[in-house]
Amino acid sequence: MTKKLNYGFIGCGMMGQEHIKNINLIKTTNIIGIFEPNKTMREKASILAPHASHVSSINELLKIKNLDCIVIASPNNFHLEQFEQIYETRPLPLMIEKPLFIKPEDDKTISNLLVEYPEPVWVGMEYRYMPPIAHLLKNMEKVTGGVSMVSIKEHRFPFLSKVNDWNRFNKNSGGTFVEKCCHFFDLMRLITKSEAKKVMAVSGQEINHKNEIYGGMTPDIDDHGYVIIEFENGMKGMLELCMFAEGSRFQEEISVLGKSGKIEALVPGPRRFWKQKNYTQPIPQVVISPRNGETVKFLDVPVDKVLLDVGDHNGATYFQHKEFVKMLTEKLEPAVNLKDGYAAVKIALAAQKSAATGETVNMQHFF
Ligand SMILES: NC(=O)c1ccc[n+]([C@@H]2O[C@H](COP(=O)([O-])OP(=O)(O)OC[C@H]3O[C@@H](n4cnc5c(N)ncnc54)[C@H](O)[C@@H]3O)[C@@H](O)[C@H]2O)c1
Repeated sequence: MTKKLNYGFIGCGMMGQEHIKNINLIKTTNIIGIFEPNKTMREKASILAPHASHVSSINELLKIKNLDCIVIASPNNFHLEQFEQIYETRPLPLMIEKPLFIKPEDDKTISNLLVEYPEPVWVGMEYRYMPPIAHLLKNMEKVTGGVSMVSIKEHRFPFLSKVNDWNRFNKNSGGTFVEKCCHFFDLMRLITKSEAKKVMAVSGQEINHKNEIYGGMTPDIDDHGYVIIEFENGMKGMLELCMFAEGSRFQEEISVLGKSGKIEALVPGPRRFWKQKNYTQPIPQVVISPRNGETVKFLDVPVDKVLLDVGDHNGATYFQHKEFVKMLTEKLEPAVNLKDGYAAVKIALAAQKSAATGETVNMQHFF
């Protein structure tokens, strides 16, 4: 029998638990240690991973001898310091939830870890693994005859409530473009095969969380905005975000265009956030629209119900862990590496800055 991969966890709230539910579907894995400071979340995690030891610090977690890898799924503002602590104590293979860091001032630390960390680090960019998006990524060159531009529209539900309300304030999350949209900047880099050269953005807090108060303070997070990016190879990208749109049939609509045609991925949001009665979740779709007069093709790309039931990300968390386990077992390189995690956040922080100042951010001179 092949040896099982022993996972440890730092943070087991909503996303940590989604990771565990998906890891549990992979027979060659165990969850053996969890550091989760919140009692309710600890209890929920215990039900999902009944054989895991619960510890009260990262140092204690790192003392578990047969640990093979760690998933960091704590709030955004802890990712970098926890990554550093692991580096200094016992570097192990890691999966770090996005965003890798949240402030331009963290550049030096993260740049150092990028070079020095001796074990593979996978950054949690689940959207690459959603079946309709994976289909688009695989077929975009053929359909477009060479990509020229990409647009991503996300119309979704407002930010959910989180443990200690960490996501209500920019100082904890990095801001909405960092917290929510680094996924989309990652996809744009993957689609254009290029780095961002210029970033322009507008954003605002129009509807959501304005009547909430935490510790005497009203949330300062944006709920909508646009970002336009010019890439070094001349390709263009655009993001449209609206977070007061949970009635939308599709949550993400991604269009990639080129000289021969257009390919689109249409991705429904999680079933549990729909308020309509008798609602049937739409099947994810890929639409192929050639320019030469050939018929438009609509392809259904369904997701297995078992996978839909163990997460909010169209099965992506499962596919990501399958690849993560394969990477560690076969000693491969991470498909989403530290450089990817870093570059996506850098674009996101540039968008935050552009929206705050009204200026276009030139990436060469932005940290
Ligand atoms: N990739 C995705 O699609 C996706 C989706 C949702 C969330 N996330 C990311 O996952 C992370 C967690 O988000 P969530 O939605 O699970 O939030 P959450 O609040 O539900 O869970 C965070 C958990 O971390 C625990 N925690 C707090 N401080 C900690 C610390 N210092 N060390 C360890 N644990 C600590 C909290 O008690 C809580 O249980 C965030 O970085 C978020 O951006 C990613």
